[in-house]
Amino acid sequence: MNFKNTDDILAAITDKTNIDSSMKHLLGISDLNPAQITALLDKTHHYAQALRSGDWNQTRLNNKIILHLFFEDSTRTLTSFEIAAKRLGAQVVNWNPHTSSLSKGESFIDTIDTLGAMGADALVIRHSEFGAPVTVAQRVKCPVINGGDSWREHPTQALLDAYTMIEEKGGLKDLTVTIIGDIAHSRVAASNMILLTQMGARVRVIAPETLLPEQLPAPDIAKFTSLQDGLPGSDIVMTIRLQKERMDRGLIPSPESYFAQYGLTSAVLDKYCPGALVMDPGPLVRGMQMEDDVAEDPRRSLILKQVANGIPTRMAVLDMLLST
Ligand code: CP
Repeated sequence: MNFKNTDDILAAITDKTNIDSSMKHLLGISDLNPAQITALLDKTHHYAQALRSGDWNQTRLNNKIILHLFFEDSTRTLTSFEIAAKRLGAQVVNWNPHTSSLSKGESFIDTIDTLGAMGADALVIRHSEFGAPVTVAQRVKCPVINGGDSWREHPTQALLDAYTMIEEKGGLKDLTVTIIGDIAHSRVAASNMILLTQMGARVRVIAPETLLPEQLPAPDIAKFTSLQDGLPGSDIVMTIRLQKERMDRGLIPSPESYFAQYGLTSAVLDKYCPGALVMDPGPLVRGMQMEDDVAEDPRRSLILKQVANGIPTRMAVLDMLLST
């Protein structure tokens, strides 16, 4: 494996010593300094290796109970948090908003106060409202982990994406990462932009004008509106689906026209960045972000490696926040 020890990355990005890498919650990448990001990536690497060798402390979080509050649907994040918790010996409660007393008129805040009073050791929350995990963290006593809120942040996705890039490319510094798609509404794009720029990568975004916000969440990001202009020189190309659930109107003429202009094909990659590796946080909408041949190309596609790296990443986060 060509993993470059994250100590090297930390040394490369900062000469500061004695940086506090402790944290109470994980609410967003924007709350983290490079030392904290590095500590999480280091621990992710520890668990990735441990999962391969079968040798880790499987009772590290014994007697801990983790409450999952997913107000929005999820396949990857919810399931991998549960597997990560169980790999460390914790127990998980999957609270379901659709069978809860929200249907009887109980408010979000009363729901949080009620669940908070039950004494879980950590909460993982996904919510469509901007900053909902921050509000929850102000009301409960235990660590809160953001499993994705609105278009704001999805910190564990950015961490697992960063770890996947490090595994494949040896580090983040000076890597050119190009993100294509719905930049305006994507929390994954936002958290990735913040993390990658903090860690010394060069970040570009490519999108139609309608999906490109004027203000991006991190500095020094180059904006492009065509693959032809934005792709050359990319080491990693990450596609992002259209976040229709967060759009208040149609922002592209049609899926076909979007794919014709922004869809990744083998021919486009061969022409503009033949050595680039392709990532997508999922869910992948077939026929929109990339053609099937690209998604399934074992030489190029890191999609299932991203999914697999969700487990050690979330083990690392739970370990950092919960073990005493
Ligand atoms: N990437 C991601 O957040 O996927 P899920 O919505 O399936 O959790």
